[in-house]
Amino acid sequence: MNYKKIDPKKNDVVSIYHLLISGVSPRPIALVSSLDNNKNVNLAPFSFYNAFGANPPIIGFSPALSGRTGLPKDTLLNIRETEEFSVSVVTTDIVDQVSLSSCEFDRNVDEFVKSGLTKKKLDIINSPGVAESPFIMECKLLKIIELGNKPASGNLILGEVLMFHVKQSVLDDKGRIDLKKIDQVGRSGGPWYTEVKNSLFKIDKPKGIGVGFDKIPAFVLNSSLRGSELSKLANIQKIPSQKTEIDKIDFNYEEFILKLKDLINKNEINQAWNLIISWNSKNE
Ligand SMILES: Cc1cc2nc3c(=O)[nH]c(=O)nc-3n(C[C@H](O)[C@H](O)[C@H](O)COP(=O)(O)O)c2cc1C
Repeated sequence: MNYKKIDPKKNDVVSIYHLLISGVSPRPIALVSSLDNNKNVNLAPFSFYNAFGANPPIIGFSPALSGRTGLPKDTLLNIRETEEFSVSVVTTDIVDQVSLSSCEFDRNVDEFVKSGLTKKKLDIINSPGVAESPFIMECKLLKIIELGNKPASGNLILGEVLMFHVKQSVLDDKGRIDLKKIDQVGRSGGPWYTEVKNSLFKIDKPKGIGVGFDKIPAFVLNSSLRGSELSKLANIQKIPSQKTEIDKIDFNYEEFILKLKDLINKNEINQAWNLIISWNSKNE
């Protein structure tokens, strides 16, 4: 395999940063609002962000020290002071305003005003949420893990979610979030973003434990079937024992693989396995 190797210790920070933001992509975006001790409001997006546990619900994001000056961002300074913050989800409707809120305004500048987004008063914490966002979390600081002390070093802020706010309009009839309705945006490398609703596809989880790739015979494993097609064969819990009538197997190997592909793509996995077993017995 022809890989280019990049040793972070032998390369500059900017190129490592670009590797990370394109290679770890798409990332969800936390639109974080926080306050300083004088109740000055701050708003900024962070895509080094994720959820880490459900019991208790923990989320984390990482404001880096400025790549240019090495100084901490306002969000980090605020959360050190007031130990709370809100996270609002970023949607297609507001992503341009969110990008605007990421400009390096002075610490006393309210990015809600600069970006034209609206404050939503929350129940438990003093920081506001973003009223245009359909999903807001009120968080209290759990821990800040400093990941270095150089320009672009991260500061992982972990927070416990004290309250979720979900707009009724993004819920389905079971009361769960409908991914098409919530319309989240993710961040990819450089200026690129991802619209979740236009890139969704479904993979049904195996109900039990699948038989695995190692149970697929070599004449199928080494064929032109793609990994996704082989996965469907491997996902079955038990290989069926029933066979197709042997005298019906009157086609060559290429035709066998085409028939197999067709069955897999029609999601007729038991039939596909029957065909494999029958082909095997006929050609043993
Ligand atoms: C979509 C998006 C994602 C961003 N993600 C991060 C991030 O994960 N970490 C970071 O330090 N800066 C990130 N930034 C840049 C910050 O938003 C920017 O530095 C901002 O000015 C910080 O604001 P503050 O000083 O008010 O905290 C991101 C910017 C955008 C537009």
